[in-house]
Parts: sequence; C-alpha cells; structure tokens
Amino acid sequence: DAEKQMIRDTWSQVTEDPLVHGIVWFTRLFDLEPDLVPLFKYNGVCYSSAQDCLASPDFLDHIRKVLSVIDAAVTSLESLSSLEEYLTGLGRKHKAIGVKMASFNTVGESLLYALEKGLGENFTPDTRASWARLYAMVVDVMSRGWQI
Ligand code: HEM
Repeated sequence: DAEKQMIRDTWSQVTEDPLVHGIVWFTRLFDLEPDLVPLFKYNGVCYSSAQDCLASPDFLDHIRKVLSVIDAAVTSLESLSSLEEYLTGLGRKHKAIGVKMASFNTVGESLLYALEKGLGENFTPDTRASWARLYAMVVDVMSRGWQI
C-alpha cells in the first residue's frame, strides 16, 4: 500500500549514504541521552565522550548493525513476523547490555530527527507518521526481550 511504498522510497533516499545518516541519528541520540555513551564498551573500555565514541570504528560498526536491522524491517514490511525471533533475541541482548527499554523511545525520536535532516522537504507529516509506526513495530517485538 501507499504507506509501505513511502517507507521504501524514503529509505532508499537515505541509504544512498547510510553511515552519514546513521551518524546524525546517534549524534542526536547522545545529545538527548548522554548516559547511553558508557554502555558502548569494546574490550571492556568505554569512551570518555560522545565524540570519541562516534569516531570509533567499533561504534561505527554498531551503527551499521542498527541500519541493517532497519533495512531488514523495510525489506520485510509485508512479513515482519519473519523477524520476530531475531528481534526478540536482539531485545534480550540489549537488556543484558544494560539498555533500558525507555531509551528506545529516545532512539526513535532520534531516528525521526535523522530522517528529517536526511530527507529535507520530502519529510512530510505522513512520512513521519509512517516511520514512527514502523519503528514502533520493531521496538514492540524487541521489547519482548525485556520480559523474558
Ligand atoms: C549490539 C548498545 C540500539 C542493533 C550492541 C552492543 C551494544 C549495543 C553495546 C554490543 C557491541 C556491538 O555489537 O557493537 C546499544 C545501545 C542502544 C542500541 C546503548 C541504544 C539505546 C540498537 C538498535 C538496534 C541495535 C536501535 C537495531 C534496531 C544491534 C545489533 C547488535 C547490537 C544488531 C549486534 C548483536 C549481536 O551481536 O548479535 N548494541 N544498542 N542496537 N545492537 Fe545495539
């Protein structure tokens, strides 16, 4: 339907240069919720600042991982249930890392922010609403990982 098509079209616009938008996304996330920075530890070491984190290859890999999950959701719009097990497991992993479910609201706000920056005038109220719904579906399944 029209909503799914809009999601696919807008996603293909930003994924011409995915890492750039991914960095905008997580820069915004750390501005809104700086306490998330210390959750990113590689080899037991965490970053002393959001800037250090955003500049590190390990963290950029996490951005790529996040983008690949969104990409999978966009690709599977017709059959999100095929991702259920994966997403619930991903939620469980993030719970174990110490991420609070509530932080995923900030992640969602930051995603909409990055899409707005990336799409410019193509970011309409409909675009925002469609993406908010898609993100909510993804997080809804991930949230089951906090319950089990
Ligand atoms: C793995 C933190 C949000 C997808 C990780 C890891 C950390 C982490 C510390 C392990 C290290 C790594 O693989 O780089 C966080 C924090 C988040 C967040 C603090 C924000 C609150 C997300 C979101 C997604 C996501 C929104 C996708 C929708 C992944 C994936 C992995 C991962 C796919 C790899 C899991 C695996 O190895 O099986 N995350 N994450 N993360 N994260 Fe996140």
